[in-house]
Amino acid sequence: MYPDLTGKTAVVTGASSGLGHGIAQRFLQQEGMNVVVNYHSEKHRGAAQELADACNANGRTMAVVVQADISQEEGAQKLLDAALDTFGTVDVWVNNAGIESRYPTHELPLEEWEKVLAVNLTGVFLGSKAALARFVDTGTKGVIVNLSSVHEKVPWPTFAHYTASKGGVKLFSETIALEYAHLGIRVNCIAPGAIETPINAAKFADPKALAQTVKLVPMGTIGTVEQIAAAAAWLASDQSGYVTGQSLFVDGGMSLYPSFERGDG
Ligand code: BGC
Repeated sequence: MYPDLTGKTAVVTGASSGLGHGIAQRFLQQEGMNVVVNYHSEKHRGAAQELADACNANGRTMAVVVQADISQEEGAQKLLDAALDTFGTVDVWVNNAGIESRYPTHELPLEEWEKVLAVNLTGVFLGSKAALARFVDTGTKGVIVNLSSVHEKVPWPTFAHYTASKGGVKLFSETIALEYAHLGIRVNCIAPGAIETPINAAKFADPKALAQTVKLVPMGTIGTVEQIAAAAAWLASDQSGYVTGQSLFVDGGMSLYPSFERGDG
């Protein structure tokens, strides 16, 4: 727990499942923060509402659930407005929402490329833009945390649109970190490896596919949502107050070229 986070307000995009849900939960239940819990599609409303209800049970509103498409400028604005209307401020903005799909690149439909880029990269831009505008206007030394991936660095054949989006998130984040550092605004990425989330559920349910993935992790295990949430809390807190423009890899060593593990080469 980081006491400086208590009472602060965060927006978490894609907070109805997976990493976003875990980060929102940690902020609400362990850090005592207010959270705008964003979801996109109707099928995720229940999970977002359930998290909020559990946290609002003591009569004080700590969580507000907001439907928004973060690939649209109105979506990001809606999240900012909800934070300001409900809590009067925003201090931390986590751009987590992301999607992935698999296609050989020569068969990758343009619409699919555009969809993945729209959510994973344009969504990070629009969320960051809304947060930065507010931070600049109010002189807030705010924090932005962007969820990239080990694939901001590691090539991943048949996921070219995904890697393009995540590589984009990395350099976009470094650029705005530099642009706004003089105002005390910090921007960092978390680069998760293989984590147990719904995005990976089908893959990890297949023992062969799971074993294949584990082979790529020097530490020999899949990561947990809680491990990513812990990184998000640290990056949001003053404990990382001198850290900006960095990607924190939380990946059990996946990005360390595991095929060189035995000193071959
Ligand atoms: C992807 C996962 C994948 C992991 C490691 C993540 O960015 O979302 O599906 O297992 O990278 O390859």
